[in-house]
Amino acid sequence: FGFTVGVLGVLGLIAVGITWAVLTDSETLKVAEITPIEWWKHCVLYQIYPRSFKDSDGDGIGDLQGMSKELEHFVDAGVNAIWMSPIFESPMYDFGYDISNFYEIHHEYGTMEDFEQLLDRAHKLGIKVLLDFVPNHASTSSEYFIQSAANNETYKDYFVWADPRWVDPVNETNRLPPSNWISVFANSAWEWNDDRQKYYLHQFAIQQADFNYRNPEVKKEMYKILQFWLDKGADGFRLDALPYLMEADPADHGGLYPDEPHCGLTQYEPHQPGYLCTIYTKDLIELYDIVYEWREFIDEYNEVHGGDTRIIFSEGYTNITMTMLYYKNKDGRLGAHFPFNFDFITDLTAESDARDFVYTILKWLTYQPYGAVSNWVFGNHDNNRMPTRFRSDMVDGLNSLNMMLPGVAVTYQGEEIGMRDGYVSWEDTVDVEAINKGNNETYLLFSRDPARTPFHWDNSTSAGFSTNETTWLPIAEDYLELNLAKQKEDERSHYKVYQALTALRKEPTLSHGQYHVRALTIHTLYLVRSLHGYDTLVLIFNVSEEIDTVDLRRIKDLQLPAVVYISSIQSDKLQESLIEENQLTLSPGEAVVLRALPT
Ligand code: FRU
Ligand code: MG
Ligand code: CA
Repeated sequence: FGFTVGVLGVLGLIAVGITWAVLTDSETLKVAEITPIEWWKHCVLYQIYPRSFKDSDGDGIGDLQGMSKELEHFVDAGVNAIWMSPIFESPMYDFGYDISNFYEIHHEYGTMEDFEQLLDRAHKLGIKVLLDFVPNHASTSSEYFIQSAANNETYKDYFVWADPRWVDPVNETNRLPPSNWISVFANSAWEWNDDRQKYYLHQFAIQQADFNYRNPEVKKEMYKILQFWLDKGADGFRLDALPYLMEADPADHGGLYPDEPHCGLTQYEPHQPGYLCTIYTKDLIELYDIVYEWREFIDEYNEVHGGDTRIIFSEGYTNITMTMLYYKNKDGRLGAHFPFNFDFITDLTAESDARDFVYTILKWLTYQPYGAVSNWVFGNHDNNRMPTRFRSDMVDGLNSLNMMLPGVAVTYQGEEIGMRDGYVSWEDTVDVEAINKGNNETYLLFSRDPARTPFHWDNSTSAGFSTNETTWLPIAEDYLELNLAKQKEDERSHYKVYQALTALRKEPTLSHGQYHVRALTIHTLYLVRSLHGYDTLVLIFNVSEEIDTVDLRRIKDLQLPAVVYISSIQSDKLQESLIEENQLTLSPGEAVVLRALPT
């Protein structure tokens, strides 16, 4: 060991990037054998919000050509795969989650040719492209819905139609909906349709009618849609809003849609979701079989067509048991390649301490089926941005956790530069959820617009997002200080930390190594990744607003001295410096990634 430390002392400063194994007596170290893994099991997966990524034609709205032009950004950032929120034809009540034609590109985003070109360019750069599949509902302006409302034989059972529960015998326009169900976006989940003279179900906006999955024709149509985009060359799909796929069957309830019980949560008013316990509208066990069928379909597609594996990953906010069922059921029937892990969004806040972080991380890893691929999500288009929910001084630490935990690292557009929520006034508010649930005083409690403001490319007009000074959502006010171009120039920046971390992911320790995560104090946690014969990588992260001193001897498998591989921008522990002392003092939010001797 004396020899090793000597070598470290001399070479420590220049040894970053070199595996310690070459610096030590290779005879004494057995290097673990590395079996290559499939691309999706350890990728950096980046969510694009198409409307806000890059505008190429100056209309103030992001588009496909804009994306195509900026694909190099992903190569530069170390991103391996992108998934984009819906780009399909839509009247945009829910900004693309209300699809009117599942086989067409939305005109504001471009043409089918633009999409094909984007796919082609991305693939040439080695970037996978995944699409958003929205199976729960279609726009009420879709041909499916128009034909269904017109009682067209082929389409009449495409949606969930029902008679009123009660009609006033004196005045028949006075009627009650089939059940008390409440939409996710507030108020009744049933809407009267004059053409059809029935109510239809919409678990989201009124313009998003729920498909009827008890109709086999609907399932067939979904396969057609999946096949269409797979044939174009898509590498897979994110599956939207799965917990809402099926609802109680009236056949099981005396021919009526059953009312849901009140939950007794006093913070909710009767028209708000949360007022009712969603036992008949969410997490129905039957919906999982549909997901398992989609997996069979995609597995078969992979088998027939070969090439790199196409994957599906699922979206659903639900409890851990129902979440894990998306991976597979108890008979081993496979579902999503992975369900999104939203625990960093739902279980943690700026108030969480190191124990909460550790508990949350271990929750997922504990429940996940053996051999399954984990994933970590820190933000998306439905939630306040990561540094806004936590703190700006935590950006690098959070990105470090994301990149160093086992499995897939998911980045929401802007997280690589630490973008915060933008300010969107009530007048500028366009989110249907905010408009339905809030008023000019309360809307920010519900609005998803602040997390959807355009990406900050540079400090020019509209942050380099668009040549137009007016954009579909306003540019966040902090763009002059917080933008990609500046962070590329600055000696230290969130972006440079992000790049260092995505580069580090190429090391077998991160793709194949063991993990160990613990709280050292109430403020500071550590994550050790180790793999026999390869450098041990250690993240130490003070999640609190206090200065904290920790004892490094308590970190499993960490032998000092160690080299600082990267640290958060506020850290005084500079890249490539040596950590030799047992006591380490960390400032608020400070994170340090150490490279240490192999075990
Ligand atoms: C996630 C989401 C929302 C959208 C909803 C309905 O829950 O993607 O953004 O409004 O599903 O598609
Ligand atoms: Mg545009
Ligand atoms: Ca549904």
